[in-house]
Amino acid sequence: MLNLKHLLFVSLFYMAHAADSDITKFMKHLEVIPDVIAEGPKDFLKVSYDSGVVADKGVELTPTQVKHQPKVEWNPESTNTFYTLIMTDPDAPSRAKPEMREWHHWLVVNIPGNSLDKGEVLSAYIGSGAPKDTGLHRYVFLLYKQPKKLEFTETHLTNTSAKGRENFSTKNFAEKYGLGVPVAGNFFQAQYDDYVPELYKQLGF
Ligand SMILES: *[C@@H]1O[C@H](CO)[C@@H](O)[C@H](O)[C@H]1NC(C)=O
Ligand SMILES: *[C@@H]1O[C@H](CO)[C@@H](O)[C@H](O)[C@H]1NC(C)=O
Repeated sequence: MLNLKHLLFVSLFYMAHAADSDITKFMKHLEVIPDVIAEGPKDFLKVSYDSGVVADKGVELTPTQVKHQPKVEWNPESTNTFYTLIMTDPDAPSRAKPEMREWHHWLVVNIPGNSLDKGEVLSAYIGSGAPKDTGLHRYVFLLYKQPKKLEFTETHLTNTSAKGRENFSTKNFAEKYGLGVPVAGNFFQAQYDDYVPELYKQLGF
């Protein structure tokens, strides 16, 4: 029998989900929400690699394809608005047992407008290095609009060491600096391939 309460619940459920942006729907589907962020962005971030692939909607890419820092594009509010870009892997060392969640791969802050190369690099880009037999990892890109240019207290990390990368929390970082909800995002997935041992050499493993 149709009950009024149930009908109301169903309508509210559909209204809530109809309001989600497309990128938020993809993030919910692969549980980036809630594993990394609580609330999804409105816009897709355009992330393209020099290998010819794009990091889009959770597509599977290989560590070989993502070894170099990608081009990341967005429409900034203005050239004197500052942005923070995060790339993070919640599935370290595996999605099944994410004991080091999150392992952050890239962290650039105080980016003026969309001039990524003018931002302050807190953690240099490191590509996917999913350990053998740990399945697919999610690699999530998030763009936040900063309230203003900020002072960051984090240690600067290079691409030759893994030190300081694990146990990162995007939620805590965003909260610490008052970044609010990300304005754009995207993600891909990757698992081990034969480029990973080479990356481990770069990191001194
Ligand atoms: C590591 O960083 C150096 C210095 O910024 C850069 O020249 C090099 O291309 C980077 N290596 C990789 C594999 O990204
Ligand atoms: C990261 O978190 C795990 C699990 O909580 C803990 O065992 C490990 O010591 C932490 N690593 C660092 C460097 O704090």
